[in-house]
Amino acid sequence: MMEYSWRREMLLFLGLSLLLCFSTSLLLAHAAATQITYDNGQLLINGEPRILISGSIHYPRSTAEMWPDLIQKAKEGGLDVIETYIFWDVHEPHRREYNFEGNVNFVKFFKIVQEAGLYGILRIGPYVCAEWNYGGLPMWLHNIPGIEFRTDNQAYKDEMQIFTTKIVDMAKQANLFAPQGGPIILAQIENEYGDVMGPYGEAGVRYMQWSAKMAESQNIGIPWIMCQQENAPQPMINTENGFYGKWDWKPNNPKSPKMWTENWIASFRSWGLPARHRAAEDVAYAVARFFQNGGVLQNYYMYHGGTNFGRTAGGPYIATTYDYDAPLDEYGILNQPKWGHLKQLHEAIKSAEKILAKLSSTHKDIQNNVTLTTFMNNSTRKSFCFLSNIDPKLDVNADLGKNGKYFLPAWSVSLLSDCNKEIYNTAKVSTQTYLKTNKPSNVDTQFNWEWKAEPLNDALNGMGSSTANKLLEQKATTVDASDYLWYMTSVNIDNSFGKKAILHVNTTGHVLHAYVNKKRIGSDWSSDGKGFVFEKPVTLKEGINHLSLLSATVGYKNYGSFYDMVPNGIVGGPVQLIGNGNVTKDLSSNEWSYKIGLNGEHEKFYDDKLSQNQIWSLEALPLKKPMTWYKTTFKAPSGSDPVVVDLLGMGKGHAWANGQGIGRFWPTMIAKAPQGTECSDTCDYRGQFHDTNCMPDCGLPSQRWYHVPRSFLNNGDNTLILFEEMGGNPTQINFKTVTVGKVCGNALEGSILELSCKGSKISDVEFATFGDHQGKCGSFKKGSSDAPDTLSVLLKACLGKVSCSINVSAATFGLSSSNSATTPKRLAVQAVC
Ligand code: GAL
Repeated sequence: MMEYSWRREMLLFLGLSLLLCFSTSLLLAHAAATQITYDNGQLLINGEPRILISGSIHYPRSTAEMWPDLIQKAKEGGLDVIETYIFWDVHEPHRREYNFEGNVNFVKFFKIVQEAGLYGILRIGPYVCAEWNYGGLPMWLHNIPGIEFRTDNQAYKDEMQIFTTKIVDMAKQANLFAPQGGPIILAQIENEYGDVMGPYGEAGVRYMQWSAKMAESQNIGIPWIMCQQENAPQPMINTENGFYGKWDWKPNNPKSPKMWTENWIASFRSWGLPARHRAAEDVAYAVARFFQNGGVLQNYYMYHGGTNFGRTAGGPYIATTYDYDAPLDEYGILNQPKWGHLKQLHEAIKSAEKILAKLSSTHKDIQNNVTLTTFMNNSTRKSFCFLSNIDPKLDVNADLGKNGKYFLPAWSVSLLSDCNKEIYNTAKVSTQTYLKTNKPSNVDTQFNWEWKAEPLNDALNGMGSSTANKLLEQKATTVDASDYLWYMTSVNIDNSFGKKAILHVNTTGHVLHAYVNKKRIGSDWSSDGKGFVFEKPVTLKEGINHLSLLSATVGYKNYGSFYDMVPNGIVGGPVQLIGNGNVTKDLSSNEWSYKIGLNGEHEKFYDDKLSQNQIWSLEALPLKKPMTWYKTTFKAPSGSDPVVVDLLGMGKGHAWANGQGIGRFWPTMIAKAPQGTECSDTCDYRGQFHDTNCMPDCGLPSQRWYHVPRSFLNNGDNTLILFEEMGGNPTQINFKTVTVGKVCGNALEGSILELSCKGSKISDVEFATFGDHQGKCGSFKKGSSDAPDTLSVLLKACLGKVSCSINVSAATFGLSSSNSATTPKRLAVQAVC
């Protein structure tokens, strides 16, 4: 009896608390519920039309510890929304085995977005492109019998639906969608399918329609988008991607808001190709033009690019850095002037949000290439104007009659409040530029290196774990458990063939290391990741000869129609021995033995804590020795500045800090401009940015510095382990911290220039001129005119200060007035932090 009543009370209590919890959460959810709708081209939040600025930050490209700071800096930069893809392969590395921990905890990521008071866009894909390995699709998908990706194929659709539902359910459970009180206002299904759909024919159209229906059936209470999908079925909103919004482009339904899901803020980095830079002036121009023309939401791709840790980089040949020349650099430091110049643009746009969001505007051509667009809020009668000059060369003075005259640099847009006051011009940058430096670590400079050779005996003796009478495709065979696959066979050589031959291997793999009779005969690689022919002389012996070929991939392709079917490895070959008089022995249909991965990978050499094999040698450090593992310990540089490791001297391989993959390294891959193009260290912001302009850093390693996130390090001894496949010299390796070394200003007369050194004092002003200087931060030169007092004014205003602010005018520099009204002067300053 006692027991019964105790239980009953307990149950009653539990029941009541559950009810209470449930209703409180309902209340909470209800209290904060946000309705996202759209009509007449407007995007409405709780019925209010909005103009939104969004930016992409991909959660697995940084660490969970970095997220709050990145998101806060995005907010300070004027963003309303953070957008991310979902990366299927990291969440479901093996079928039905999920991972949502650490830096792939997307729920936590969106919670931080919400805590910062921002909205979110959830781009599920689950195909995402994104320069991510295999476009984000897990490799096990590839081996499902009968599967065909991204088309009307039941096996693919089943898996896509299971994963999409899983993500949606997790988001719902965490109350992430706006109507539940969460931050997510839009969701995306598929990605740019319209751009690759043609070759899939009718089945492609059916798949696209099915994707839309499947998404809709998820019932998430917010609009779905499909980017680059002109024929997206209702109620999907189709959106555009590119370096610029297309002037004439509109979504396929007049109700749908005009949204630009990817404003490519510059570009990604590839092994062997130069860096990409896109000027802040040009990005600002593109954004202003988009809003001038009735856009309501634009998203920077990327706002923070980050790092392709481990083996997450896509292909062909996507590098480890994914900095993207984004407003927040790879490490989360402001990329100035881009961050600040765009922040000012966002402030200018937001100041007119209530006018712009009504979408009531008229365009008027003022003169050739110069257009005035007037937005009017018909209820408040307030107006706001965009005045654009799309001429890529000519500056103009636009005359708006009683509303004033405006100097409009070429390829620029001015934002005019009340249509008569310039509050921003996209080409007039007053934000300072940061010159970053990598400072030597103050803790450790000398390292003791230990090493061990990759155990090769089994592979050189042809001992694999499976065999086939053909040359297999690499990803189907490894299921991407490793970049490496051994192809091994033997061949009987008789006297008549001779002992000298050429080993000829036709491979679609990226890198090949060849061994004959246990001797390394050489390595070669594709220059662009699209396959190559390996040919090296070999010496054979009479009787049985062993051939062991190690094929390595450097990221799987992530884009294109049927991209998933592009073959990798020595698949099909041929592999031939070409003897005297061109007598050829084709080994392609020999019996081949296969071994997936390196022994060091199986034995976890990369993680000192997990590896059973603790024997590292301290003796006679081998240099330029292929297939070598190196290990050292180091102390984390003090302070909180981001840490990078300089891997100059190394060849190609993989790096780990305390067992965490910091990515592939390949500093010997030197940056060259693609054929028919040229590198340039200066970049004219004027005119259309495209795939091959503004490419600095030719002749340098495509990547020398590798990010070691602070959270990978601890206060005691840290371990750096490298696997070197080509041969390298680790003795020059060192750790540095990334900091702002100098700041520059380059401001037009009439603006206010603010200089600051990220919290430290300005210790010198190296250069200052007010006139018509040339060059850029780091290499300014005086022009033909200058105000002699400029340097002393700057020294007085800035030296020893944490920040200083200069009114850029003739009077400030002791001149009576500017001698030319049409071409204003510029102030150029370079200060040392
Ligand atoms: C787009 C794609 C993105 C990314 C971008 C280039 O086509 O949707 O995922 O790959 O190109 O960085």
